[in-house]
Parts: sequence; C-alpha cells; structure tokens
Amino acid sequence: MNLHVSGDVGTRTTAIIGALKGLEGPLLPILHEIQAEFGYVPQESLPVIARELNLSRAEVHGVVTFYHDFRERPAGRHVLKLCRAEACQSMGADAIAERVKALLGIDFHQTTLDGAVTLEPVYCLGLCSCAPSAMLDGEVHGRLDAAAAAELVAEARR
Ligand code: FES
Repeated sequence: MNLHVSGDVGTRTTAIIGALKGLEGPLLPILHEIQAEFGYVPQESLPVIARELNLSRAEVHGVVTFYHDFRERPAGRHVLKLCRAEACQSMGADAIAERVKALLGIDFHQTTLDGAVTLEPVYCLGLCSCAPSAMLDGEVHGRLDAAAAAELVAEARR
C-alpha cells in the first residue's frame, strides 16, 4: 500500500516537474504546484525534485521549511491563518493569536487532534486597514477582537 502511494506521489511529482522545469527559477513554482496537487509537499516528492533539478535534498528541504506557505503534512479540514505582519501586530494580533491557540489547544503549524483545524501564520493578507486580520478557508476576516476570534474558531470547528 505504501509503495503504491509513494509511486503515485513520485509519478505525479515527476509530471509536475516536467511541466514546470523549463521556467527560470523553477523550484518555487514546482513546490506551489505540488502543494496544490496534494494539499502539502510530501516527503517523497523531495528526492524526486532534487534529482530533477540537480539540487541536494537538503537544499530542497531548506526551501520548503523556509517559506511559511508550504506544509509538510496534510492540513485539517479547515485552515485558519492569522496575520503576523506589522500592521496586525500593532493592532493586537499577538493577543488574538494566543487566544486562538488556547481555544484550539495547538500552536502554529499544527492541526487539532480531531483533524478539524490547521492553524497557520500568514504575513499580510492585504487587509492592513482592517487589522488584525485572519483568513478562514480562503475567506478574509478583519478587525478581529477576542469575541470575533472565538467565533472564527467555533466556525472552523463546525
Ligand atoms: S499586516 Fe496583517 S493584513 Fe497586512
């Protein structure tokens, strides 16, 4: 079973690389496409990318971990992103983050045990004038306060 899954990941990874390899600086577009395909960047994809782009596996892994956009594990059913950038920080994003983490019982980059919610940091949602901001499953929410944050968490858990 595992072998089958690995093979599938390998085949699909190879197809994505084949389509994007000709781009200048192909690594990031390839990683984005792999995440779009699988919902995360599977470990099995890394050696395939490294081989095809003539990079070391450590180099590929370094890029995956450097960019906050890439997930190393599948996400929960809902993804809640909290803005951590400056405008939101200045409007109390830290307190919101602490509240949300406590309500969910997880830290950033983690998923609740029931698989319902993954919590991720994001660095500006383009909604600075409505800071602090968040995004739940692609929908942006601004002017969060403790009550609105709790409501978002409840919505994500539904
Ligand atoms: S800094 Fe948070 S939306 Fe821009």
